[in-house]
Amino acid sequence: MSDKLFIFDTTLRDGEQVPGCQLNTLEKIQVAKALEELGVDIIEAGFPVSSPGDFKSVVEISKAVTWPTICALTRAVEKDIEVAAEALKFAKRGRIHTGIGTSDYHIRYKFNSNQDDILERAKACVKYAKRFVEDVEFYAEDAGRTNNEYLARVVEAVIKAGATVVNIPDTTGYCMPDEYGAKIRYLMEHVDGIHNAIISTHCHNDLGMATANSIQGVMNGARQVEVTVNGIGERAGNTALEEIAMIFRSHKETGIVTNINSTKIYSTSRMVSSLMNMPVQPNKAIVGRNAFAHSSGIHQDGVLKNRESYEIIDPKDVGIDDNAIVLTARSGRAALKHRLNILGVDLDQEKLDKVYEEFLKLADRKKDINDDDVLMLAGKDRTAMHR
Ligand code: KIV
Ligand code: ZN
Repeated sequence: MSDKLFIFDTTLRDGEQVPGCQLNTLEKIQVAKALEELGVDIIEAGFPVSSPGDFKSVVEISKAVTWPTICALTRAVEKDIEVAAEALKFAKRGRIHTGIGTSDYHIRYKFNSNQDDILERAKACVKYAKRFVEDVEFYAEDAGRTNNEYLARVVEAVIKAGATVVNIPDTTGYCMPDEYGAKIRYLMEHVDGIHNAIISTHCHNDLGMATANSIQGVMNGARQVEVTVNGIGERAGNTALEEIAMIFRSHKETGIVTNINSTKIYSTSRMVSSLMNMPVQPNKAIVGRNAFAHSSGIHQDGVLKNRESYEIIDPKDVGIDDNAIVLTARSGRAALKHRLNILGVDLDQEKLDKVYEEFLKLADRKKDINDDDVLMLAGKDRTAMHR
C-alpha cells in the first residue's frame, strides 16, 4: 500500500528570507507557477504582515495558482493572522501557518515567559486562525530543542484547538537524524488525537542533516515535509525538495509517494537559481552540474558499458537530457572513443591509441577538453564535418 507524503514548498518564504534572494511579485508568480507544474501540494507564498510587497505577492499568487494550497505565515499575533487571512482571500484553498517558539531558549529569552503561558498562546492563535480558514497549520518553533514531554502537551492542545497540520521544526538544524525521528515517534505515540492532524517536518541544514532528519521524520510518522528548491533558506538552508522527491522515488520499498513530477525538477532548479541569483554548488545532489558527470576513467568505462554501474538515477527522470562523460586527464580510451563517435568520428584501434596519447598530453595542460580539441587531435576539422 502506498502512503502519500505532502510536499510543502517554502522557497518563497523561508527561501526568500536569504539576503540577496528577494524576488518581486512577478518573479514570485513565475516560481509559484513552476511549483504548481512540479506538483507541490502546498506553496508557502509569504509572510503577509511583514511587508506590503509580501502581502501583495500572497494575493497575486492566490489568484495565479489554482491547484496547490496557498499558505501564509504568521506569528501567534492576532493582527498577523487577520492580515494573512485578508491576503489569502482569493485562494481556492488557503492555509494559515501560525505558531510560537516552544524551546526554553525561546520561552525564556525571546518571550520572557513560561511554558503554561506559551501553551495558552499556542491554543489561542490556532483558535483565532480557525475563525478565518478551515486549514490551520501550527508550528512549534525550535521544536528540535524542545523537551518532548512539553512538546507533546503543546501538540495535543493545538490539535484539540483545531490545527489540521502540526509542524515540528528543527529550526537551528541541531538534531541528529535518530533524535529527530525519535521525537516524531514520541509524538505519534503520546499525543491523544494525533491522527486528527498531519505531522510535518521542517528541517534546517546547519549541520548538513536537513534531508536525513526529514527522512527520519517521515519514517516515524510525519506525512508532510517542508522543503525549498535547491535547499535554499536561512543560514545553511532548508531540506531540498529535489532530494526528498528523488529519495522516495528511488526507495519504493518505503511505500511513500509524492505528487512531484520529477521531470520538472531540473528546470525548476535552474529557474530558482537564476531568479534568486543563487548559484547551485556543482556537487549538489540531483541538480548540481556534476550530479550526472563522470570524470574518472574507471567510472566512465563502467557507465559506458552499463549506466547503472555508477548511476542510481536516470538523468532524464529529473529533466536532464543525458549524463556527461567529462574528458579529463583521468579519462580512458573508452571515453575518448565515445566522444569521437558522438562527433561522427570512428577510428581504428591503432589510430585511437595515437590520438589518446596526444589527448593525455593536452589534458595534463588544459582543464577543459572540448569538442574542438578532440576533433583537432583526431585530425578532423569541425567545419568540414558539418558540410
Ligand atoms: O525554521 C522555522 O522554525 C520556521 C518556522 C517559522 C516554521 O521557519
Ligand atoms: Zn525555517
